[in-house]
Amino acid sequence: MDTRPREDLRDKAYPPVTGIGRDEHVGMVREIFATIPGRYDFLNRLLSLRRDVAWRRFAVRKMRFFDTFRLLDVATGTADLAIDAALCHPDIRVTGIDFVREMLLPGRLKIAGRGLGERIRLLQADAMALPFADRSFDAVGIAFGIRNMPDRRGALREMRRVLVPGGRVFVLEMNFPRNRFSRWFFRLYLNRLLPAAAGFFSGNPAAYRYLSDSILHFPQPQAFLGMMEEAGFRDLKRHALTLGITCLYVGTRE
Ligand SMILES: C[S@@+](CC[C@H](N)C(=O)[O-])C[C@H]1O[C@@H](n2cnc3c(N)ncnc32)[C@H](O)[C@@H]1O
Repeated sequence: MDTRPREDLRDKAYPPVTGIGRDEHVGMVREIFATIPGRYDFLNRLLSLRRDVAWRRFAVRKMRFFDTFRLLDVATGTADLAIDAALCHPDIRVTGIDFVREMLLPGRLKIAGRGLGERIRLLQADAMALPFADRSFDAVGIAFGIRNMPDRRGALREMRRVLVPGGRVFVLEMNFPRNRFSRWFFRLYLNRLLPAAAGFFSGNPAAYRYLSDSILHFPQPQAFLGMMEEAGFRDLKRHALTLGITCLYVGTRE
């Protein structure tokens, strides 16, 4: 947990994601997520009007388990996707990884509180070098994690490596919509509502300015599907959720 007083973070500013190198981006992401876990779940629910819960549920209901009966949740954060999947599929085991130890702490408490400690384990690990053998999982999920990874193709290739043939990847990610009304609404949300709420509730408001910036610069759906194809996924599908502000991308390892 961040030990600096909140005042130190009040004036914090992060550079735009377009103007920095990969290492600086990764360092910034590590710092941001190490300073927000205490309010992370609360702000997620508030800022998405609880839609984030519905989006993760939509993803876990599409998962199928047929060989290893194991799910990997990459960039698990506070373990919401891991917990939802374990509750939805009582016969599976789930591993969640995240490279920020502070994010995993609330997740461990939630898992213990729900009596899921035997079925979900959380590890501190980097998505760019997953500590698992090839073909270990029937499904890999990543919710709101991939836009924080500068090398998205590399992250997708790692996820593909650990899937069994026929296994599927489920990528949930926010998206800047094309439709004019949705764009207007979403711009208002990103530029006004989100910074105002984050400034009031969060100990690190700059972290939420980074959030807006990272959503604005995430590739459009067709471009992201192209990356999934380059990473070796086939039978690609995209589901647009809530006016298209979030997408679920699904791909299969042949
Ligand atoms: C917006 S949070 C999403 C957390 C969770 N999946 C959810 O649905 O709320 C993004 C997470 O990605 C993690 N992350 C970013 N880059 C990572 C990497 N290279 N390896 C592992 N975790 C990473 C961050 O530490 C953070 O916990």
